[in-house]
Amino acid sequence: MEKNMEREDIINNLEIALKDIKNKADLANLKATYLGKNGVVTKLSLKMKELPNEEKREYGKFLNEIKEEVTKKFSDLEKRLEEQALEEKLNSEKIDITLPARRSLKGSIHPMTRIVEELEDLFVSMGYDVVSGPEIDTDLNSFTKLNLPVGHPARDSQDTFYLDKDYLLRPHTSPAQVRTMEANVNKEPLRIVCPGKVYRRDDDATHSHQFMQFEGLVVGEDISLADLKGTLELFAKKLLGEKTKVRFRPSYFPFTEPSCEVDVTCFKCSGKGCNLCKDTGWIEVLGAGVVHPNVLRMSGYDPEKYTGFAFGPGIDRFAMFKYGITDIRQIYTNDIRFLEQFDRKDVD
Ligand code: PHE
Repeated sequence: MEKNMEREDIINNLEIALKDIKNKADLANLKATYLGKNGVVTKLSLKMKELPNEEKREYGKFLNEIKEEVTKKFSDLEKRLEEQALEEKLNSEKIDITLPARRSLKGSIHPMTRIVEELEDLFVSMGYDVVSGPEIDTDLNSFTKLNLPVGHPARDSQDTFYLDKDYLLRPHTSPAQVRTMEANVNKEPLRIVCPGKVYRRDDDATHSHQFMQFEGLVVGEDISLADLKGTLELFAKKLLGEKTKVRFRPSYFPFTEPSCEVDVTCFKCSGKGCNLCKDTGWIEVLGAGVVHPNVLRMSGYDPEKYTGFAFGPGIDRFAMFKYGITDIRQIYTNDIRFLEQFDRKDVD
């Protein structure tokens, strides 16, 4: 009777204490207070010595039972704690496979690059080579060898940024004419286009200090203004649509003679007249002309044998019209919100 009471007390107290156990360390401490050297259960076994022999057997049985029961309660809780820890770990590692995947950010092709690539494809299909030149060039290549000697008044209209008196940020892609002709050692006929950035002392909604040009140069025998007209008509139609009409107006460039300014029918109103074309129906897109004999001669070509034509559109304009860009400066500020508007379908 007495033993049963004792056993019940021990087990009840243990159960109460176990309820507060939240981790393995606390469990180990509690275990020591029951089963350790001075533990409750261990102390019980000390009583054995004081008992008369006939009672020892029964007391031994009682001791074993209580020890077993206490041990089991501890191992049960130990197991539960382990399971709980595992479950927590698994929960923390759980992934929700129904969540949509994180979208990787795709870039898009810049409107200017699109225009350049479109034009390059067109001219390559007509047998032209694509060349590139440095953005920092010499005064000699950018002006003097294009028949614009030092002091020539027409230099003013293309004023640019000088690094020192000989080097500058090229104000147009026309130095590509000089570079290509000079590099051609055998002075053979050639057909090139040169896209690239150019720089001027300009800054307003339609003129940026930096913009893009797409120089073209053809040198050969019997090349005439008629070839230039045919080429530019094709160029305008391919880029702006088959219905586009082209108009040539006489103009002046020191490096071409005769020179012309080329207009196309307005992209917005197709020639009817609107605010974009200032009611004229036409929009000016480029300067061009027959290469001046001085330019050929200065780069080593014999103007008696060869003639040529050259053209130099500013292609930001085309991008502005094609994509409805109202401020040229947006093309160069790298604002993601602007760039994102150009579809990404062709990018992978
Ligand atoms: N380089 C000229 C400009 O920037 C354009 C041009 C190129 C004109 C070739 C004639 C021939 O205005």
